[in-house]
Amino acid sequence: MPRVTSAPPALEARHVVQRYGAATILHGVSLAVAPGEVVAVSGPSGSGKSTLLHLLGGLDAPTEGEVWWAGERVDTLGTQTRSQRRAGRLGLVFQHHYLLEDLTLLQNVQVPGMLAGVPDEGRAQLLLDRVGLGPRGGDFPGVLSGGERQRVALARALAVRPAAVLADEPTGSLDRAGAERVAELLLTLAREDGAGVLLVTHDERLAARADRTLHLLDGQLEEDGTR
Ligand SMILES: Nc1ncnc2c1ncn2[C@@H]1O[C@H](COP(=O)(O)OP(=O)(O)O)[C@@H](O)[C@H]1O
Ligand SMILES: [Mg+2]
Repeated sequence: MPRVTSAPPALEARHVVQRYGAATILHGVSLAVAPGEVVAVSGPSGSGKSTLLHLLGGLDAPTEGEVWWAGERVDTLGTQTRSQRRAGRLGLVFQHHYLLEDLTLLQNVQVPGMLAGVPDEGRAQLLLDRVGLGPRGGDFPGVLSGGERQRVALARALAVRPAAVLADEPTGSLDRAGAERVAELLLTLAREDGAGVLLVTHDERLAARADRTLHLLDGQLEEDGTR
């Protein structure tokens, strides 16, 4: 359950509009994820789920509207400042784990902390332990399975104790057992840390474990019901 808190949302979109040329992908989407809350977003392919996550993650600025992280408006910041803020406040997990192939697993997990100016090897090792890869910190990503790579990506996303974790179909490329393990870890670790989670998923069992589920259709976000 979400914690009762007076803290600002971990993550917020206010009337976000996104256009690409003549196409309007998002028609004024508003959404707030509270600290400790897990929100799942579903919707047909091409409905703009990844676009919404990119905008909320500050990887792009919206055509119109505002994006806020833990009480700070970030869409108006310069790209570099926003990247710095992102490194310290958000964890991102995509369908395809973008690990740095020339760094060891332990180094990969340490990257966000270094970018944010708060390197913490101890926490990186602890997270590798938690995702079941503790003894393999010196290995390189190339020798891992897809599920193992995604577990490293998850550890990396949580390295700086982010206010929010954004996950775009994080289990989409995995087999069922691998997907379940990653999903379980994502929800457990994020909840332990009180991070808000915004999760794009087609997996109904995963969506059912969220506090709220939302549906993106025709550029609008609809509440599927609260549990
Ligand atoms: N950078 C971009 N430039 C132009 N069109 C884009 C861009 N990114 C996404 N789109 C378009 O926006 C729509 C939504 O894409 P996306 O957010 O990836 O959907 P989903 O993740 O729900 O499958 C698609 O029609 C896609 O082609
Ligand atoms: Mg997508």
